[in-house]
Amino acid sequence: MTKANTPPRQVSIGTYEGLRTKERVVLDIDGQSVGVYFLGDEIRAWHNTCPHSGGPVCQGKTVARTLQAVDAATGKSPGLTLDRSSRMIVCPWHGFEFDLLTGIHAVDTKTRLRPVPVAVVDGDVVLTLG
Ligand code: FES
Repeated sequence: MTKANTPPRQVSIGTYEGLRTKERVVLDIDGQSVGVYFLGDEIRAWHNTCPHSGGPVCQGKTVARTLQAVDAATGKSPGLTLDRSSRMIVCPWHGFEFDLLTGIHAVDTKTRLRPVPVAVVDGDVVLTLG
C-alpha cells in the first residue's frame, strides 16, 4: 500500500496540560515532521515544510506581527508598531512569515502553511495524520 492510500490515523502526542506551557513542539512521526503551537487557548499544527522552498518552517522563531499604520490624512506613516496579540512563525531559511493561527503568509494570502488537524481528546493533544 502506498502512502497516498494510507488512511488517516490519530496520534496522541501528550497531555494538553503538559504541552500547553510550551509555545511549540516539533515532532517527527513516521517520517512526517509537524510543528504544534500553543497560543492562549488555541492549538495549531502545521506540516514542517515551508511553501516557499521546503525549509523547516516550524524550526523558526515566533515573533509579534509588525504593522505599519498610514495616516489617512497625510498618507505618511508614523513608523512601525508590533501587534503583540498575534504571533508570526518566521521560516529560518529565507524569513517568510506566517500567522501562527491561520498559517497565512504575512503579505501573500495565497501562500500558506499546510495544516495538520489537531484536537484535545480526553485531555490529550491528538493529531490526525494522513
Ligand atoms: S524555504 Fe521558507 S522562506 Fe524560503
